[in-house]
Amino acid sequence: MPTIHQTVAGTPGRPPERTQVAIIGAGPAGLFLAHLLHRQGIESVILESRSRAEIEGTIRAGVLEQWVVDLMNDMGLGGRMMREGHFHSGITLRFDRESHHIDMAELTGGKRVTVYAQHEVIRDLVSARLEDGGTILFGVSDVQLHDLDGTAPRVRFRRAPDGPLEELRCDHVAGCDGFHGPSRPAIPAADRTEYQIVYPFGWLGILTEAPPSHPELIYANHERGFALLSTRSPEVQRLYLQVDPKDDIANWSDDRIWAELHTRLEDKDGWTLKEGPIFQKGIIAMRSFVCDPMQHGRLFIAGDAAHIVPPTGAKGLNLAVADVLVLSRALTAFYKSGTTEGLNRYSATCLRRIWKAERFSWYMTTMLHRNPHETPFEQRVHLADLDYVVHSRAAMTALAENYVGLPME
Ligand code: FAD
Ligand code: PHB
Repeated sequence: MPTIHQTVAGTPGRPPERTQVAIIGAGPAGLFLAHLLHRQGIESVILESRSRAEIEGTIRAGVLEQWVVDLMNDMGLGGRMMREGHFHSGITLRFDRESHHIDMAELTGGKRVTVYAQHEVIRDLVSARLEDGGTILFGVSDVQLHDLDGTAPRVRFRRAPDGPLEELRCDHVAGCDGFHGPSRPAIPAADRTEYQIVYPFGWLGILTEAPPSHPELIYANHERGFALLSTRSPEVQRLYLQVDPKDDIANWSDDRIWAELHTRLEDKDGWTLKEGPIFQKGIIAMRSFVCDPMQHGRLFIAGDAAHIVPPTGAKGLNLAVADVLVLSRALTAFYKSGTTEGLNRYSATCLRRIWKAERFSWYMTTMLHRNPHETPFEQRVHLADLDYVVHSRAAMTALAENYVGLPME
């Protein structure tokens, strides 16, 4: 039976040659996993290809489900989030220039979501991990996975692009390296099935120095396309516009972005959008993707490495945390009692939740966006869906319970 090593591996600059769990990627999945394992006395080393400044500066998700907030607090990592995050008990759906409030807390027995930017979560998790003496190697390259079929996998990497290949020996590899990382391709193609939808639209996202225009998020369906009003702080707001994913951000002057946001977001009751200087903008493509299975031998993939959701349901980060919670429990059972049952079931356990989040994200996306490739019939069905969801308590409750996050067993 494997032994538990109570010590935390190595120090930055002198990485260990062996650890229990080699984690590839310091995104939400990798960092949460390292913390969850550390709490159980299980060693890990994180290998991350980007610099600390880069991962702490990348603007991505904003919405945390209630149970993720509870988990962060439970791990002692929620202090700044509780001071600086924004707690939302509802969202607004807007279409035909009319607003419809969905009171999620009332519909779900008091559950809320928290708007707290992903890069702030990353900052909190990185600093706490390093304070705990954990090892995160930033800026590694040429990461390669070996011997996943046996009981002694190895991960090779370079600490500097022109440096020598080094080797980390381990019991298990956690592939938390996002959609483009090397972990998913390490599952032989013949052994995995990939399910995918690529949407014919993307999101243009901006950060603006402006006061909040509304106390909660507004998801708007407009004949010119979807728009979303979100927030980051009393001084900084986050907004998105549906655009062609192949469009060049250079085609979007600040004036054009504001004109389009006003047109798509404003309602017939005189609500207006507050403007400010735009200090960050970019376009992202959108897809739905699932890899089945999420494991091969001693490799377990988690988060965006295994699945992608379009951001309309605000599920990606939350799903990444759900995967590694399942994985940490299975690894804990393995190291405490030698049982492999949880590890063997890892993929099946995660995929049940993942497919429900895929369904919800696809539903929100197809209902709220204008898809030029859909037939007029399909477009009318989406409008009927919106009309239904804001007038039926049953449909509204279904939306709310998915949005705040399905129970995490
Ligand atoms: P990632 O965050 O992609 O982390 C993977 C890490 O692995 C990265 O740091 C990467 O540098 C590293 N890596 C990659 N290749 C290698 C390699 N070869 N070697 C070593 N390291 C490597 N989700 C939500 O839940 N709510 C939201 O509101 C939301 N909004 C979003 C808005 C936008 C605009 C976008 C783009 C995404 C949004 N998401 C949202 C999705 C969310 O950001 C992702 O699902 C989440 O980042 C996934 O975490 P992860 O740890 O699996 O992967
Ligand atoms: C965000 O604030 O970045 C955000 C909010 C809601 C979403 C997606 C992104 O559905």
